[in-house]
Amino acid sequence: MKNKTKSFFLICLIIFAFALGAVFVFSEPCFTVQPAQSESKILQQVDAESIIFLTVPLYHHEDSYKLLLVNEEYPKLLEEGAKKIVPAYGRVPLSTSEIQLEEETLLQAEKMFTAAAEAGITNLVVTSGYRIKQEQEKLYREAKNKKYVARPGTSEHELGLALDIQVLRSITALKTKRWLAQHAHKYGFIMRYPQEKVAHTGKPYEPWHYRYVGNPHAAVIYESGFCLEEYIAALEPGNFYQAAFAGKKYLLYRVKAQGNYLPVPQGRNYWFSSDGTGHYIVTAEIGLE
Ligand code: DAL
Ligand code: ZN
Repeated sequence: MKNKTKSFFLICLIIFAFALGAVFVFSEPCFTVQPAQSESKILQQVDAESIIFLTVPLYHHEDSYKLLLVNEEYPKLLEEGAKKIVPAYGRVPLSTSEIQLEEETLLQAEKMFTAAAEAGITNLVVTSGYRIKQEQEKLYREAKNKKYVARPGTSEHELGLALDIQVLRSITALKTKRWLAQHAHKYGFIMRYPQEKVAHTGKPYEPWHYRYVGNPHAAVIYESGFCLEEYIAALEPGNFYQAAFAGKKYLLYRVKAQGNYLPVPQGRNYWFSSDGTGHYIVTAEIGLE
């Protein structure tokens, strides 16, 4: 082959390789969460007759607020004192050292990033975490496309429970995105704005925005294919539900406080969170699977 023809083929080959790489790296596949089982199996309704309930004063307990629904319909800002915001520097990969997150959110994010690294995934970086009100206001004011920034007072970033995770461009980007979409729930995170839930969330597809809700809730949301709005609506006040996660069984119910008192199961480990709609969601351990 002549030298000119050889060079021509070589150039064609290089262009082809780049084009193939670009398809892998720049295409934005949508990782939808397919329901693994029917909703009724996952969010199983149970009677709670064998459980004794006591009412406890709300002011003696910490509201974990991790199931707080925040959107255009339910705006919510918390007092500074109600949030435990801590620096994320040195604990998860960051795009800038100033990023902070709510304490438990960061702890779980740390576990998730460690598991990712153990699976050979190192091209993930947190680009945004807790935002003070003024920061959300500035982002909103300056945003070219406002639909990707929540109106100040309606952002989960203002609670410290949301983190934006960027997948760095590389040949393994697709594998990384898949890993994140399939494993985040194990650490209590949900992809908050899935493509097929725009009508419920009011937000466009944001595959980078993860929200901490804790478990067993994240696992139920993942398995059922619900978004947070649907999940909270599915927990009907007056009913009791059972969910399983990591070998433990949980009782879940959504209830209004009676004055300043909340009914909780006697003799069980439990935690609760306000849900932003005027109810609390109680989560109690009720045994092993
Ligand atoms: N990007 C999300 C919607 C926020 O600003 O909270
Ligand atoms: Zn975000």
